[in-house]
Amino acid sequence: MARTSRFPGFYKMTVEERRALVSEATGADTRDIENALEGGGLDAETADKFVENVLGTYALPYGVALNVRVNGKDRVVPMVVEEPSVVAAASNAAKMVRASGGFQATADEPLMTSQIQLTGVVDADRARAAILAAEREIVDLANRAIPGLAVRGGGARSIEVRTLGTPADAMIVVHVVVDCRDAMGANLSNTVAEAVADRLAELADAKVGLRILTNLCDKRRVRVTCRVRAEELATEDMDGNLVIDGVVNASRFAELDPYRAATHNKGIMNGIDAVVIATGNDWRAVEAGAHAYAARGGQYAPLATWKREGAALVGTLELPLALGTVGGTLRVHPGARLSLHMLGATGARDLAMAAAAIGLASNLAAVRALATDGIQRGHMALHARSVAVAAGATGDKVARVAQMIVEARDITLEAARQALENLAQREGDGAVAADD
Ligand code: MEV
Repeated sequence: MARTSRFPGFYKMTVEERRALVSEATGADTRDIENALEGGGLDAETADKFVENVLGTYALPYGVALNVRVNGKDRVVPMVVEEPSVVAAASNAAKMVRASGGFQATADEPLMTSQIQLTGVVDADRARAAILAAEREIVDLANRAIPGLAVRGGGARSIEVRTLGTPADAMIVVHVVVDCRDAMGANLSNTVAEAVADRLAELADAKVGLRILTNLCDKRRVRVTCRVRAEELATEDMDGNLVIDGVVNASRFAELDPYRAATHNKGIMNGIDAVVIATGNDWRAVEAGAHAYAARGGQYAPLATWKREGAALVGTLELPLALGTVGGTLRVHPGARLSLHMLGATGARDLAMAAAAIGLASNLAAVRALATDGIQRGHMALHARSVAVAAGATGDKVARVAQMIVEARDITLEAARQALENLAQREGDGAVAADD
């Protein structure tokens, strides 16, 4: 089968059928999918090697976003998330985007920044000049601490010197820029920071302070854009052009108001975090970087914005994204390895572009819903399915019970139990009637 992410009716299939289809489309072996995911992607014994005081593991739903095309290539994108409707919403929005050619994305070189703080600075100007004059020496010293990275084509590249504080409490902060290739880069950056700190303090005639990477990795940004035609955006009751107006209005609201921007960005991170978690990456680092970047202008702002271009809606998302496809967790986490394989990620930048596309898709789905029916209709329909399952519904009864409680506008466990009982009774009566 040609690599595709378009599987009509996927949501109606059984888990086994879905696994078989994804296996065929992505080349991930069904047995590998089963082995990796049956136990939640990780067994307790392996987990014990990750962190301390392990008692077991804690599973979350693992789904896939469909219809995703990034730079002309189809992707089945794994998403780990507990919130109903996030996977469906991203897939629906990706389908609208796909109809106009898919997402276009670019990613910067994988540059991370180590920070070395120098305190007790007597003459900041002299210190700064001395450090800048020794740039080559510092870069070489850094590279000697991470020899494996140079072999992979990465390594320390340059330094920057910043002076912070007042003359009374001046501090110098030196940044060492490190090309981390396909690693997320936290360990590499921290190793570099510790390796060069003493020499920097000597050059500056100062004391060593903190030595750690910054999660505001703004030299490692990813950008994704998409264009959606009005007719793709139309709902049952709303013309596509009106939907464009609504989405542009939602975008403007987020640009003007940090309260709204926070929620707007939460919708973006719904998609990005789910991919970050599925691929074994550090979502706290990604979150920290994203929100710091959103606040870079002094007012917290939306990471994605939407504009009208004729009869089309055009969205743009930009954020720093430090993701890895090698090292650390990825070596030992079967679920994360499976995700990278399924996604067909060729490296860290490729993964970042796919994750950002899911972020923009999630944002589009959210603002379109908010500008049209509101968010609760879709949410409630999905929530009703979970309630039906909790009430004991199985097979086709899940959808039927869900529909009954949605129509009754009573999405409670009690109502679902009652609906299930009514169904059983009806079917029982039917059986009697048939026997007659
Ligand atoms: C819910 O998880 C995310 C939304 O609140 C995002 C938004 O408001 O844009 C729907």
